[in-house]
Amino acid sequence: MCGIVGYIGTQQAAPLLLEGLTRLEHRGYDSAGVAVVGGSGVRVAKQAGRVRDLSEGLPKRFGGKIGIGHTRWATHGPANDVNAHPHSDEAGRVAVVHNGIIDNASALRAELADAGVTLSSDTDTEVLAHLVARSDADTLEKRVAEALGRIEGTYGVAVVHADFPDRIVVARNGSPLIVGVGAQEMYVASDLAAVIRYTTTVAHLDDGEMATVTAGGFTTYRLGASGLAATDRRAKEVDVDPESYDAGDHESFMHKELMEQPARAEAVLRGRLDERFGTGHLGGLNLDARELRAIRRVKILGCGSAYYVGQMGASLIEELARIPADAEAASEFRYRNPIIEPDTLYVAVSQSGETIDTLLAVQEVHRKGGRVIGLVNVVGSAIAREVDGGIYLHAGPEVAVASTKALTNMYLAFAMLAVQLGRVRDLSIADGKRLIEGLTAIPGQIGEVLATEDALAEIAHELAAAESLFFVGRVRGFPVAREGAQKFKEISYRHAEAYQTSELKHGPLALISTEVPTVAVVPDDELVERNVAALHEIAARGGPLTVVTHASVDLGDLQGAVRRIDVPKSERELDPILLTIPLQVLSYHAALSLGHDIDKPRNLAKSVTVE
Ligand code: AGP
Repeated sequence: MCGIVGYIGTQQAAPLLLEGLTRLEHRGYDSAGVAVVGGSGVRVAKQAGRVRDLSEGLPKRFGGKIGIGHTRWATHGPANDVNAHPHSDEAGRVAVVHNGIIDNASALRAELADAGVTLSSDTDTEVLAHLVARSDADTLEKRVAEALGRIEGTYGVAVVHADFPDRIVVARNGSPLIVGVGAQEMYVASDLAAVIRYTTTVAHLDDGEMATVTAGGFTTYRLGASGLAATDRRAKEVDVDPESYDAGDHESFMHKELMEQPARAEAVLRGRLDERFGTGHLGGLNLDARELRAIRRVKILGCGSAYYVGQMGASLIEELARIPADAEAASEFRYRNPIIEPDTLYVAVSQSGETIDTLLAVQEVHRKGGRVIGLVNVVGSAIAREVDGGIYLHAGPEVAVASTKALTNMYLAFAMLAVQLGRVRDLSIADGKRLIEGLTAIPGQIGEVLATEDALAEIAHELAAAESLFFVGRVRGFPVAREGAQKFKEISYRHAEAYQTSELKHGPLALISTEVPTVAVVPDDELVERNVAALHEIAARGGPLTVVTHASVDLGDLQGAVRRIDVPKSERELDPILLTIPLQVLSYHAALSLGHDIDKPRNLAKSVTVE
């Protein structure tokens, strides 16, 4: 949450900072600001609203070749001009941008107020600016280290100071920070997206690490009780295509990411399917066949859509490997003092690899001696670095807040894991081969669903008119319904509630009316008759129905009364992902028809790095 960018070099900083912030805006977009160090000291411009508002309002003469910028997702205090970052001391000699949360901010604010400091914002971050300004240590690094030593909480932080006009000091503890290397110029950022147009040579700071960044290079240190100890962090070339961070010809990143799914699905499967033995080939798990056989239980941890796809994964693992498996919201996990069993495999699922709730859940498992693997998209992210092994998702950068292609690849990674776990147990080679063939066909089948976009858009326009909707499914179909409802509410702002189809008559059926449409997930599986019976119960009460199903399903006399979306049939265990794709497209077109900002839905942000 929130984005940080910084520049130091031979060019004017402000335009580069604004460009970087635009590329980071998906991380937080309620206010933005920049600070530059020029001949007259530190100048700050910040305001509520989007980066483009800041850019339009920026004074013509905002010169300086060193600067830092920030785009915010509010935690302490409303999204207004004063609470926007950068924050400064009273004399305006220090400017600080910060991601994360300072847990002891109230105590520090009180202490500063007692010492006669006037605090101008409601934020936790402002205390850092005052603490740095009040230090009389002889270097900026020591001043920042002293200030950070006073705070409890998480941070990615960048600091400039008028008395040290040749450097930016950055530090990380729980919130990502990278240093990018150019020719006689350097960048800092919370995310590669901000700097990828300028450099692909970057160093990722570790938690507890600080860096001094000057135009000529950078040096790193470990923050410790006994001061700053030099570390030997080197910048490395990252293997990414800068174009993959652009929306190209698409009207939004979400549309681009939806349409990329066939290619990205191929990428996650590539080299990981063993057709000869009908199994997965997941070397990154760091678990041999004997260790895989010793697993007695699987516990999946993720948040939001990653949690729902975790439920799909748990169902795959139980069905194919016959190992008890379940998914739990990572945000709740560590607060119930979970029992960590030695023969349980814990699986952390995260697109960003930075979701703090998931990271803390992983740390809780590790603290109690458990083994965790990760299904993570962002290479080198905090969760990827914390886990004991895992499966990279190869979805490419995902910018839209609503997750689509990463979620699809999470599902496919779970399917490969489930087949591999199954094949070291009782899943037959014939079943293994059947599933590997099914997986191989999925990218093309996703393409077939996406080719029906126009028809889906028409249905979406009708659904968007409703204030409230149900998404229902059973067993394998229920997490599909949950994810469908999540996506719909996230970007259309309609009330979309997911329910087990079987549970409707135990309460929620009371809400069904001509005003409340239901989107029902009805695969052609062993529950089809029960599902169709429930559709009759909804139709009998006048509830409009959209049915996501297979061509082979006979809806009988309901046929003329429902909107029907047929998806290609896969192996029954793999059906959920193909049933999910049209729900993504429905959400996209519903939000589009309502005129919403698809990529940056209100109140949300892409990476949730605060608890
Ligand atoms: C998905 O559309 C949501 N934006 C959200 O639920 C997301 O999946 C969740 O915050 C987890 O993010 P992660 O995958 O980066 O950990």
